[in-house]
Amino acid sequence: MPFPMQRPRRLRITRNIRRMVRENSLSVNDLVYPVFVCHGAGQAVPIGAMPGIYRYSIDMLLRELEEIVSLGIPAILPFGLPAKKDPTGSEAYAENGIIQQALRAIKKEYPELTVVTDLCLCEYTDHGHCGLIRENYVVNDPTLELLARTAVSHAAAGADMVAPSDMMDGRVGAIRSALDKNGYINTGIMAYSAKYCSAFYGPFREAADSAPKFGDRRSYQMDPANAKEAIYEVQYDLEEGADIVMVKPALAYMDVIRQIKDQFGCPVATYNVSGEYSMVKAAAQKGWVDEKRIVMEVLTGIKRAGADIVITYHAREAARWLRDET
Ligand code: PBG
Repeated sequence: MPFPMQRPRRLRITRNIRRMVRENSLSVNDLVYPVFVCHGAGQAVPIGAMPGIYRYSIDMLLRELEEIVSLGIPAILPFGLPAKKDPTGSEAYAENGIIQQALRAIKKEYPELTVVTDLCLCEYTDHGHCGLIRENYVVNDPTLELLARTAVSHAAAGADMVAPSDMMDGRVGAIRSALDKNGYINTGIMAYSAKYCSAFYGPFREAADSAPKFGDRRSYQMDPANAKEAIYEVQYDLEEGADIVMVKPALAYMDVIRQIKDQFGCPVATYNVSGEYSMVKAAAQKGWVDEKRIVMEVLTGIKRAGADIVITYHAREAARWLRDET
């Protein structure tokens, strides 16, 4: 019987003792900030369901990034809004596509900021699906070619890492060999390996105008009921050359993050997605929760679950709070 010899509360008495025995902590080093970039100049269009998040034109994004860089946030994940959409998502891999232009501008101004680019086609296709469509079905193998082409064009424009988020089979291998063939052996792959078919992406689809025009994404994104499937998705991606694997969303999938961290030695990222952000913001705006404490608890919990990297729309505010604490 440990009590009364053992009294765990002894280690909770003072702030300094609590600091000494703290098992996990959030650092600015862990954060990746997603951003939305559109054509034009002087644009900063607020996204209704994501207070504090905007679609920026490149000039405005560059201004915005000044604070991100000075806070010490190591990386951003830009999403592009094309000038026009078509069945093959051709602006995704166009020499002068929105992401390619943004990459060149960002790398010129902030060469050290890590830029990870999402490779998905759904913002660029007129049907809003993440690949080519034949008879209402997203066809796998022909889509791989477009993803590989997009990856090479991002690498050429300066991407440090590419992040395939489409959930096609074999995309990591296809992208790795295309990058290598074109000489981009040091361009990394952060694979959205366990990407679930989630209602938490709702606000993002408004932000990126990427909702599917028919059907849903169940034939490529994972069933939220599955965890073992995430293990072999990760295993295949690592075998195909992924450098970092990702679980997405974060909060309803903490067990998946933990299992992947325990099973594989690789860096694990997780995406604290738009709907997770919107819920916190909405409750905070109503005065129902303490925003700062909720955000820090969420992000620390994600670290505790085993994530090394947290992609989050809260990154800027969290980085400010972390800075003010020290
Ligand atoms: C592209 C993509 C999506 C997100 C990131 N990349 C949307 C989707 O799969 O529908 C969601 C990010 C978020 O909700 O914050 N496929």
